[in-house]
Amino acid sequence: MSNVKLNAAKSVIPLIPKSGAIGLGSGSTVAIFAKELSRQIAEGEVDVSVVPSSYQAYQLAVDYKIPLTNLDLNPSLLMTVDGADEVDKELNLTKGGGGALFQEKIVASASEKLIIIVDESKLVNHLATRFEIPVEILPFSLGVVRQKITSMGITPTVREAQRKMGPVVTDNGNFILDLKFPEPIRNPAKVAVDLKMLPGVVETGLFIGMTDEVHIGMGDGTRIMKKG
Ligand code: A5P
Repeated sequence: MSNVKLNAAKSVIPLIPKSGAIGLGSGSTVAIFAKELSRQIAEGEVDVSVVPSSYQAYQLAVDYKIPLTNLDLNPSLLMTVDGADEVDKELNLTKGGGGALFQEKIVASASEKLIIIVDESKLVNHLATRFEIPVEILPFSLGVVRQKITSMGITPTVREAQRKMGPVVTDNGNFILDLKFPEPIRNPAKVAVDLKMLPGVVETGLFIGMTDEVHIGMGDGTRIMKKG
């Protein structure tokens, strides 16, 4: 198990409310957090239920015996703990490396606080420096969305599945386009809106102005960045 990810996961344990509903993000760092959370629940330290942000998060909750709830029963969540693929200095994020960006953004939007757990390698000056920006699109729209995105000077690639022929099909039955920008993004808020305006784009992996805290796992502890 990665020590830095464990340090990031442990760092947010004191922030978990004593009771209520929280969001459970997706990814390998969240998987470590879920194990820590289940221990807190089993020891009676907290009495929370989670809204999962993906099939992976749902399975983590089931495996670790974490009580489940949903956004119909709990449309307002006290907090969400999630990972990220890139974090810039304003705490804007690139997400969707695991293909779960759409439900992750909905769960985050329902949350009073979005707490991100990452290792240091995720920190960048500008988004799209190291990671392509994923967008989830309706399969019917692939041809036209790909053409429009290309005409914006961005190179889209359909994400291909591993151990299955053809494209990745998301938890929502959609495709993912990974967008290669000619240079890192200087105005991620505008890019997020421009992409979201394209009919067929159901959501982007750009999480702008949503993050409250980033807990960065290091070899010898954790560094915390908070919203300005
Ligand atoms: C899932 O689609 C992503 O948004 C993840 O939250 C992100 O890829 C971080 O995952 P890791 O913690 O595995 O790096």
